[in-house]
Amino acid sequence: MGYENKSVLITGAGSGFGQRLAERLSGMGARLVLGDINEAGLEATNALCTGPVTLLRCDVSKEGDCQALVAAGVEAYGGLDVAYNNAGMGGHGPKPLHEVTHEEFDLTLRVNTYGVFYGMKAQIPVMLQAGSGVILNTSSVAGILGAPFLGAYAAAKHAVVGLTRAAADEYARKGLRVNAICPAFADTPIMDGVVGHLGLPKEEAFAKVSSRVPMRRIADVDEIVQAMIWACSDENSFMNGQALPIDGGLSAV
Ligand SMILES: NC(=O)c1ccc[n+]([C@@H]2O[C@H](COP(=O)([O-])OP(=O)(O)OC[C@H]3O[C@@H](n4cnc5c(N)ncnc54)[C@H](O)[C@@H]3O)[C@@H](O)[C@H]2O)c1
Repeated sequence: MGYENKSVLITGAGSGFGQRLAERLSGMGARLVLGDINEAGLEATNALCTGPVTLLRCDVSKEGDCQALVAAGVEAYGGLDVAYNNAGMGGHGPKPLHEVTHEEFDLTLRVNTYGVFYGMKAQIPVMLQAGSGVILNTSSVAGILGAPFLGAYAAAKHAVVGLTRAAADEYARKGLRVNAICPAFADTPIMDGVVGHLGLPKEEAFAKVSSRVPMRRIADVDEIVQAMIWACSDENSFMNGQALPIDGGLSAV
């Protein structure tokens, strides 16, 4: 896949997709710069990695933190080949739009949308200088479909797709590729809030949320992470500006 010795940045690397991605890419020879607000999670990820790792507490809703994470990668490895803007949060429990507070809406966009914007803003100049680079932003099926009762999350993740498509064209002739991945439900800690809200045992909650998914189940973490790895690999050299659903068929029906 071509990750040997590549300098790879991952946000939200202390848990879920980001943690598994770091573990897998480290095993493929990548040199990692990992950011998260969850420092214990970052340490746990570090313990799973086999190659060079640089860890930094990074709140993606702060532009300075996103700049510092890129700077740490450049200092450690001399550049940045791949960036995964993956950090995210649910924002608010399921509720109708008119009950979403300003604070909930604001926080959801600060992390899920501004976090990607600040990330790309910091990463792109380094990639432009090198004349190459690949970025994958974690959106969601909620970024391409309406997500009833998750209004702020849907708005934030749609915005990620918009940023991705705009950047894909702006930088395509300068050696960069920019895509988004749009997972449906997957078994990571972000789902704890959904399970808690439903008040059902985990298996029953997962069955309920996947009742509209043609495959009638949620994803394993690896089923999403393998697509993230492939999307930014040398093998996938002509995909640009896409919002790639990995969703058991949910967005097809
Ligand atoms: N799991 C799913 O069902 C699913 C589906 C679609 C999209 N996603 C998206 O996938 C991405 C990864 O989520 P996950 O499922 O691995 O969940 P997760 O909760 O396991 O991981 C999210 C990580 O992001 C970190 N984070 C949260 N706010 C942050 C901030 N301000 N700055 C830096 N890091 C921050 C958390 O500490 C956590 O380590 C998110 O963008 C999420 O919206 C997840």
